[in-house]
Amino acid sequence: PPPRPLRGRRVLITAGPTHEPIDPVRYIANRSSGKQGYAIAAAAARAGAEVALISGPVDLAAPDGVTLTRVESARDMLAAVHSALPADVAIFAAAVADWRVASEGEQKIKKGAGGPPPLQLTENPDILATISKLADGRPPLVIGFAAETENLLDNARAKLARKGCDWIVANDVSPATGVMGGDRNTVHLLMKSGESVEIDSWPVMTKDDVARALVQRIAQATEQAGEV
Ligand code: C5P
Repeated sequence: PPPRPLRGRRVLITAGPTHEPIDPVRYIANRSSGKQGYAIAAAAARAGAEVALISGPVDLAAPDGVTLTRVESARDMLAAVHSALPADVAIFAAAVADWRVASEGEQKIKKGAGGPPPLQLTENPDILATISKLADGRPPLVIGFAAETENLLDNARAKLARKGCDWIVANDVSPATGVMGGDRNTVHLLMKSGESVEIDSWPVMTKDDVARALVQRIAQATEQAGEV
């Protein structure tokens, strides 16, 4: 039988984009496919974890053995994350929209003589930072993602400090890499270790292999930490 190193662990994962409503028929979105987050959910379930996958709108089927909650907006995603706690490990792979429309139209906005409507934006909650800084019920291992097109490691280090998470999975999403929407990923794993940061750099791999490798690292870390 396959080894089940995460048996008994609760793992929470966010994945996909969010959709931020403008009015009942329109929304703001981004190009996240959800593939990396779904691959991690599948790998964690294969490793024996109890997996809660909280997903924005994507075209992917629920992986075997995973409890899937579908959400639309960042605020829905945050609420679903709170509902899925407690967790031993929380992995924030979603591409959450930074902004939403300040006042969602209750009716479809009509074209009119006034010209295009002004869209006033307001900031969304930062789900990763919120959960990382929970005073009560913070998962013992919180992992964020950093998708960057330049200064990858510097930006990822800064993000690790700013968000208050334990690990950052940094990936280069420059258009030439084909990561966005593609099946491969080049990843650096930054792990806070006391006052310093340990970095694992992995070769280009499929998103499934990145998921497997990440789950293996998590299994090692939770084993070392003992029962959490
Ligand atoms: O700040 P930035 O969006 O680059 O941070 C990326 C990391 O933060 C990802 O792990 C993403 O899932 C998470 N995030 C979040 N909520 C937001 C914005 C980002 O959980 N509103």
